[in-house]
Amino acid sequence: MLKEILQRAAQEHWATGHFNFSELDQARAIAEVCAETRSPAIIGTSEGERKHAGLAEAVAIRDAFRKEFLIPVFLNADHTKSVEKAREAIDAGYDSVHIDLSALPFEENVRGTKEIVEYARAKSQEINIEGELGYLRGESKVQHEKIAVSSDEYTKPDEAAVFAARTGIDRLAIAVGNIHGISLDEPALDIERIRGIRVAVLQEVALVLHAGSGIPDVAIRAAIEAGIANIHINTDIRVAYVRELRKTLAADMDEVAMYKLDASAIAAMKEVVKEKLTLFGAAGRMETIV
Ligand code: G3H
Ligand code: ZN
Repeated sequence: MLKEILQRAAQEHWATGHFNFSELDQARAIAEVCAETRSPAIIGTSEGERKHAGLAEAVAIRDAFRKEFLIPVFLNADHTKSVEKAREAIDAGYDSVHIDLSALPFEENVRGTKEIVEYARAKSQEINIEGELGYLRGESKVQHEKIAVSSDEYTKPDEAAVFAARTGIDRLAIAVGNIHGISLDEPALDIERIRGIRVAVLQEVALVLHAGSGIPDVAIRAAIEAGIANIHINTDIRVAYVRELRKTLAADMDEVAMYKLDASAIAAMKEVVKEKLTLFGAAGRMETIV
């Protein structure tokens, strides 16, 4: 179960990796690296990514990977901005939903998140629900402008404790200086804030660091030490894939077989996934999990 793996990660101070995908070959690359490195695999689709890939297709891919790679593979509906879309993902067979109502006032966020926790629990105790509190800026892309984040917008430990207790979530996404995408400035994580949230929130609730791309390795390690048990990566793998694909496309104008054109792009993406799983300390953990 995802909950048990996350709890174990938190206790042992390592983090699971969550990687986004919109294409089958991306998802396969992530699962292959997880299998090679003996790491649990969490693959996720945002609303846009799953509209592109198809919900039923994403679920079928997850099932196929479980059979093929013999490791735990979990499918998360990432940054789901409405109760309706969250229900849709649960109904389609997702293992996990990140219900992200963080843009709404606190009480509305509590109400909608709790509704999804109850909906999921009625279906299965194994569905893992993530809520979000605090303002996470940016998009999973290379941003050329500076994005200023004020610490007033960070997740507050006391509010996080109330939010987790009232909603019954399994995971909490927090804002502590992390910004989606790669921006001009390296994001500075407030490690003390992570520690404060970890102390305040029920231990059974895993803390999630979104926007993991572009954060220096030393800050990632400190965040894990402070209590982060799951880290989301999207832009870093998108950049690795697209940069390499552009080179291949420019180098051979006659090649039209897509699977040949993107082979080196997939390899570049796999390299990034492997580096992240090693950095997170997730690599090699499966021997004792399975
Ligand atoms: O939910 C997705 C992640 O938070 C990805 O963030 O694009 O900065 O790696 P990133
Ligand atoms: Zn995110």
